Amino acid sequence: MTRLAILTSGGDAPGMNAAIRAAALIALSKGLEVFGVERGYRGLMEGSLVQLVAEKVTGILREGGTILGTSRCPEMLDRGVRDHARKHLAAAAIEQLLVIGGNGSLTGALALSDPEECGGQPLRVAGVPASIDNDVGLTGLAIGVDTAMNTIVEACDKIADTATSHGRTFLVEVMGRDSGYLAMTSAIASGADMVLFPEADRSEDDLVESIVRTVLAVRQRSGRPKRVIAIKAEGVPVSTDRLKQRVDDRLRQESGASDSEVETRVTVLGHVVRGGRPTAFDRLLGSRLANVAVRSLLAGDNRKMAAWMPPVDLPPSVGQRSTADPYCWLVDLPAALEETERLHSRQSQLARWRATVFDELTDVFLL
Ligand code: F6P
Repeated sequence: MTRLAILTSGGDAPGMNAAIRAAALIALSKGLEVFGVERGYRGLMEGSLVQLVAEKVTGILREGGTILGTSRCPEMLDRGVRDHARKHLAAAAIEQLLVIGGNGSLTGALALSDPEECGGQPLRVAGVPASIDNDVGLTGLAIGVDTAMNTIVEACDKIADTATSHGRTFLVEVMGRDSGYLAMTSAIASGADMVLFPEADRSEDDLVESIVRTVLAVRQRSGRPKRVIAIKAEGVPVSTDRLKQRVDDRLRQESGASDSEVETRVTVLGHVVRGGRPTAFDRLLGSRLANVAVRSLLAGDNRKMAAWMPPVDLPPSVGQRSTADPYCWLVDLPAALEETERLHSRQSQLARWRATVFDELTDVFLL
């Protein structure tokens, strides 16, 4: 009987369980035997596989994290480690592997399925993008982004209550590694007063001055709350504590205010952003992307990634719209990872658009 293994890797993302559930149930319904790899690529290196039957995935749709466990496993960059991982798959007669994760995890899937490295081993892989950072190329959204954004917005709504009551400035740091996507979108959705993100490439002095200008402008305006909420992406290469210190020093200089009047507060949301029950949308996204990815493996494809895009035109050389779902595409995994590189190095059109449009939009809303 044909066997499929499912692996979650990298930072967990809410909605991964929805993807595991959908992948397992669809594969089981097609008569496949399904296995889960425990703890991501680390578990694969150790041959840690568990059989997944329908009962094992029932009720997991609404749970955050991943029932399979996950890990960061830089060892996968090593050819010898990959050979070892492939041996475990071959020993279990597993010829199809679904990898659910972000760019590092998908890069691992690509390396694992390298035709030269595989030799005659009949291993095929498919990817499902899952990362709260939303930094995987050729997909509009990755699993987990919507939940993370909602978590940030909920936290900022709460912070806004106390910030407004005290007329204080808050710097709220959010996850996203080198991507400012979560900071930008949650700044718009929470009505924050400022957003600082790495794609803008602003100097430290410029960041300090822009916060100070905003705080002073807000203090001048009448009839509106005297609070400032600045959402800062963790990828901005200045520590949030240092920014706070410099902003407070400048405010004291500018306004002659006393220490107690300069009351910038820092909230680092950290891993809170990655947890919690997935939103309905992330459950939907996880289920739909996994459906398309598994069907692609069943159709004999190799090295494809299921992607979420509104009906757009993509050159056939890059990908094809899924026949199973109009909002899902099957893009070539190498092409998706090349686009990811361009996104990270800010060369892609999308990266440029994110850096300008979001900035312009928030400027208009904020002051
Ligand atoms: O990639 C997801 C992510 O949550 C990033 O936003 C963050 O920088 C990183 O993972 C944190 O990784 P870890 O959980 O390994 O500390």
